[in-house]
Amino acid sequence: MCGIVGAVGFISPKEYVFKGLKMLDYRGYDSAGVAYFNNGIQIYKDVGSVEHLLSIVPETINTNIMIGHTRWATHGAPTKLNTHPHLSFNKKICIVHNGVIENYKELKRFLLEKKYSFYGETDTEIIANLLEYYYLEKGNVIDAIKMIILLVKGSYAFTFFTSDDANTLYAIKKASPLVIGLGNGFNLVASDASPMIEYTNEFIELDDLEFGVVKKDKVVIYNKDGEEVKKETISKDVELISHDLKGYPHYMIKEIEEIPQTVKRLISTYFQKGKYQFDPELIDDLKESDHIIFIACGTSYHAGLVGGRYFEKYNKSASRFIASEWAFHPTYPGKKPFIIMISQSGETADLIHCLKIIKENNLKNLIITNTGGSTLDRNSMYSLLLHSGVEVSVASTKAYVAQVTLLAMLAASLSKDVSLIDDLMDSLDVVYDIQNHYKPLIMRVANKIKDKKNLFYLGRSFDYFLSLEASLKLKEISYIHSEAIPGGELKHGPIALIEKGIPVIVFITDPETASSMRGNIEEVKSRGAKVYTIATKKLSRPEDTIIVEDYAYYLSSVAVSSIAFYLAYYVALSKGLNVDKPRNLAKSVTVE
Ligand code: F6R
Repeated sequence: MCGIVGAVGFISPKEYVFKGLKMLDYRGYDSAGVAYFNNGIQIYKDVGSVEHLLSIVPETINTNIMIGHTRWATHGAPTKLNTHPHLSFNKKICIVHNGVIENYKELKRFLLEKKYSFYGETDTEIIANLLEYYYLEKGNVIDAIKMIILLVKGSYAFTFFTSDDANTLYAIKKASPLVIGLGNGFNLVASDASPMIEYTNEFIELDDLEFGVVKKDKVVIYNKDGEEVKKETISKDVELISHDLKGYPHYMIKEIEEIPQTVKRLISTYFQKGKYQFDPELIDDLKESDHIIFIACGTSYHAGLVGGRYFEKYNKSASRFIASEWAFHPTYPGKKPFIIMISQSGETADLIHCLKIIKENNLKNLIITNTGGSTLDRNSMYSLLLHSGVEVSVASTKAYVAQVTLLAMLAASLSKDVSLIDDLMDSLDVVYDIQNHYKPLIMRVANKIKDKKNLFYLGRSFDYFLSLEASLKLKEISYIHSEAIPGGELKHGPIALIEKGIPVIVFITDPETASSMRGNIEEVKSRGAKVYTIATKKLSRPEDTIIVEDYAYYLSSVAVSSIAFYLAYYVALSKGLNVDKPRNLAKSVTVE
């Protein structure tokens, strides 16, 4: 949600800022804006797309400095006035912001007393004015920033410049990522490194309560007290942060097809020379704990459901919680619980809320995330990266498979069970088979269900966990109402909804539950449902829709999740929907 880009001293800040905004648009936004300095501060902003914004800015922009923003409305409706950048009352400060200011009402009252007035409803505009107030009072920007850090509660990544200095960008950070890119004769700012990789591979990541003074040939980082901080520069693996579509029409299908390489990369990272390669202290802490608590949201929560089973297999009891539920009623089963948080983005606000509680209670914890340098990565006790490469499509696919794979490896490492690695490789053969041979069949199913209003997924055990994920994927990108039901629960209520023609998609890949699932199929068929069955060879019947080779049944979420992902993709595609950016959703959910 929301994206920031900024450039100073660059040959063409416009080119960088607009390309950057396009690159960050996967995070989700409803309005976009840019500001630069040329005979004073110039601001262009509007509701709508970055393409629309580009059509309203001058063709040639002569400037040394520029900031840009994509906004996903939180405080105040998505209107032109509320769109960033925001300008202070006396037109001295021009700012963009990611995050949420908690005490903005109190700060607004203070400014109203000082005779400031406001044109919009955002918390950001208040910060523009607060900065201006202290800039005018103290006579310099550094002291004004120190006051902001002291007074402002909440999360923020601010980037701004002043009307008095067209050669300096300021970047301030707390609990919302902000990265500085170092160039030759120019320097850049962005909310993640991806917009900058075309221009540099040298970065500085700001830590919380730090700020950067960014000029074209110099970057100085300060702490909250205004003392200079020496920071390491880092470089990033270009392939992993590239947004190149590589010839695919959409990121979603590209990312589905990257599943095998994602799994293989995890194996080569965390399993070398016949041994699991996890931090021994992490493994000791996991072994010593008597209960594992999984906390996550959405798709990552679904991965946690599967992960819980993996730990149970190695005699660790486990509970699973949705982050936004746990945050308000935290429970800690066991005497020595260990918390595993899962988050593709590492920036999910609900989970960051949980981490605060986890730390207050001194609980051992681990984050499994795809985003190195993210808030959860930096603030958790242990962190394991998914190394999946940036996931641009809002609908998570390869990251889900990576989460499940990594959880399986971590659990297996507790008992040094290396048979998992062969099982994973076998399940990849199934994935390749699906990619190479099953897409036309999945497209045919997609065509049959695309005009339906409701459908059901059924499964038991691992197949139920997979059904939950399959159902979420379908509803979020095709807007078809879909529910996942454990086969055994059908008769306890949901069967009332089964009527003639309703599609029911059934997974039968678990030998323990296969015969019960066949019973469920009869129940829904006899009430008129149109059943599509996905089964493994040994458990299959000739009438099944998709029959795949056998694999270790506990790896369904690795082996056959692609079927569910392709199905959602083809349904959305055939309905002409925006596959990569479904309505109302953002890739990184940075507000609770
Ligand atoms: C669905 C999806 C979401 C995310 C959820 C948590 O395809 O992507 O349900 O899984 O918003 O996000 P992360 O994993 O970034 O914490």
